Amino acid sequence: MSTQGRPITCKAAVAWMPGKPLEIEEVQVDPPKDHEVRIKMMYSGVCHTDWAYLYETGQSMSPRHFPVVLGHEGAGVVESVGTEVTKFKPGDKVIPLFLPQCGECKRCLSTKTNQCRKNWANTQKGVLADGTSRISYNGQQVYQFLGVCSFSQYSVVPDTSLAKIRHDAPLDKVVLLGCGVSTGYGAAINTAKVEPGSTCAVFGLGAVGLSAVMGCKAAKATTIIAIDTNPAKFPKAVEMGATECINPSDHPKTKIQDVVKEKTGGGVDVALECVGDTAVMSQALESTIDAWGVCVIAGWTETEKLSVEVEQLLLGRTIKGTYFGGWKGVDALPLLVNKYMAEELKLDEFITHSLSLSEVNKAFQLFKSGDSIRSVVSLW
Ligand code: CU
Ligand code: ZN
Repeated sequence: MSTQGRPITCKAAVAWMPGKPLEIEEVQVDPPKDHEVRIKMMYSGVCHTDWAYLYETGQSMSPRHFPVVLGHEGAGVVESVGTEVTKFKPGDKVIPLFLPQCGECKRCLSTKTNQCRKNWANTQKGVLADGTSRISYNGQQVYQFLGVCSFSQYSVVPDTSLAKIRHDAPLDKVVLLGCGVSTGYGAAINTAKVEPGSTCAVFGLGAVGLSAVMGCKAAKATTIIAIDTNPAKFPKAVEMGATECINPSDHPKTKIQDVVKEKTGGGVDVALECVGDTAVMSQALESTIDAWGVCVIAGWTETEKLSVEVEQLLLGRTIKGTYFGGWKGVDALPLLVNKYMAEELKLDEFITHSLSLSEVNKAFQLFKSGDSIRSVVSLW
């Protein structure tokens, strides 16, 4: 029996309140409305930001609405489309986007940014264009995290927040392009604009940091220094292209920025912060060469303040942020998938754990303990 036009009952991991583990519940997913697409979600990555909204909301993260279905790095197949949808049809393989690309607004038409704001205010609140969510539990509205909510077997997203990808793409791998790998890889390529022959330092070797290392290598940097306090991450960093790995704990008497400066004759051309810690952001900035160094913030934290000595900038350093690696998702994701299929971009190497939806809380523990790079949850 076709599900088109009817509500679907399915499983989702629901966050009922901040600080409490997710619960697997039966939810109802309504049909898509105008300019909306209902997706059968196949896989979801588990990202630090999901954890942070659950356990740090109202602290380092701005408050969000609960109950909510988290997950913002997903991949699936179109189940049905609402009216006015022209670019998608049932059966299409897709990656939902927490950052839209409407293709028409001033920001989409600019080459300077990927910051489209179509439906943004609503999806940030966990609802769609009409101000409501398509997901409910016993009649109670359940919010859709960033509009994506990939910890649900079905989701409904705006048609401007969805990238169509090729039919032969393995969803259990390309799912990582929905957030982590695209963010780090793009931070190096699009935001830092790493040049051939340059020296780079990457702070923090989670999925974003390792992807940033991969981006530096793809951009033909000749020195890529990978920095983490967990040396268990170093072999992966080397696999991704790091030319040297440093554990700050091995240099108890010297600031890490001084270690980097010493090794690179005054500082790196580019430093990428992939932790989301303001102290590390300062270290990253101060690791760059004073005359032209670029420090890119890819790590996520929202409400904390970064203080910078003005002198650090006066001689010519730049500090900037990156969001989703600077990619315009609708256009870029099919190309990144092509790169993966052509073996020019690694994804498999990031996946350390494949889990079922009921094990989603375990995925949070695994990265808090530093034992995983990326866990991928299978929704079915
Ligand atoms: Cu993420
Ligand atoms: Zn736009």
